[in-house]
Amino acid sequence: AGTLGDAAAGSGRYFGTAVAAGRLGDATYATVLDREFKMVTPENEMKWDTVEPSRGSFNFAPADAIVNHATAHGQRMRGHTLVWHSQLPNWVNAIGDANTLRTVMNNHITTEMNHYKGKIYAWDVVNEAFADGGSGQHRPSVFQNLLGNGFIEEAFRTARSTDASAKLCYNDYSIENWTDAKTQGVYRMVKDFKSRGVPIDCVGFQSHFGAGGPPASLRTTLANFAALGVDVQLTELDIAQASPTAYTATVQACLDVPRCTGITVWGIRDSDSWRTGENPLLFDNNGNKKPAYSATLATLGGG
Ligand code: G3I
Repeated sequence: AGTLGDAAAGSGRYFGTAVAAGRLGDATYATVLDREFKMVTPENEMKWDTVEPSRGSFNFAPADAIVNHATAHGQRMRGHTLVWHSQLPNWVNAIGDANTLRTVMNNHITTEMNHYKGKIYAWDVVNEAFADGGSGQHRPSVFQNLLGNGFIEEAFRTARSTDASAKLCYNDYSIENWTDAKTQGVYRMVKDFKSRGVPIDCVGFQSHFGAGGPPASLRTTLANFAALGVDVQLTELDIAQASPTAYTATVQACLDVPRCTGITVWGIRDSDSWRTGENPLLFDNNGNKKPAYSATLATLGGG
């Protein structure tokens, strides 16, 4: 297979990218997108500040443009993201009582999921709820502060009752190194959810790596989470300076774990990346394949 998407499909996996609606009209961008990728994650367009900028007023136009493009090109979608402390409009942060926030959170989940029902392979239901550092606990947020630890469970239960077909994922960064407290905190949560029947289907490992590439324990981490009975995915992969060796190690870790069902890179060309100046992606600013592309394709079994 000569493309990332076809090569990954050879082992039953997907290879995807983050997409920005504003770039779909760029011919180079769209050409590479539609040639190489079979899964699409909106980079910003499904986030709360875009979708529900004021209470009860929903704007799906930017995300619809991406979904329509994906549908027209046979690409599946990851929904990103329903409940997140960032890119959250001020009106949500200003809510002062738990009952109002609970109503607002559940209405947001239900309305957005219903709009895209049948079109989303997996939703990042809750994003980045755990704190950095050594606590292994949730980070402060309006959701955590007003609703307590149970807000994550409530979000997943609401999501399942809204769309029983979409896979429901927890997504976070810096949970790739097995021994880190943050990784262990998320692991304990997933184990608890599975033991109590809280609906969770998958864990997304964002995989924003430095120039050294993934932690040596990445495969162990993916395997240990998979052993809890969830799929795992690399959801926002980018690596500072994009060394072929680092991309190879990352992709191989996923291939080594049967329940690692796919990999998404966080953008197409280096110039599309949020990591300005780090050249972390698989295509250069002109849309040409970089050495990391060839390494990734070969590791997937293509070429
Ligand atoms: O659209 C506005 C534009 O109207 C305005 O003029 C301009 C001025 O700042 O900002 C534009 O919004 C920017 C938006 O990207 C769209 O380009 C925001 O400022 C900017 O903060 C936002 O950055 C995004 C970031 O999430 C915000 O948290 C990045 O594109 C996006 O790649 C990044 O993605 C996150 C994942 O969702 C979660 N995991 C981490 C990852 C990287 O931070």
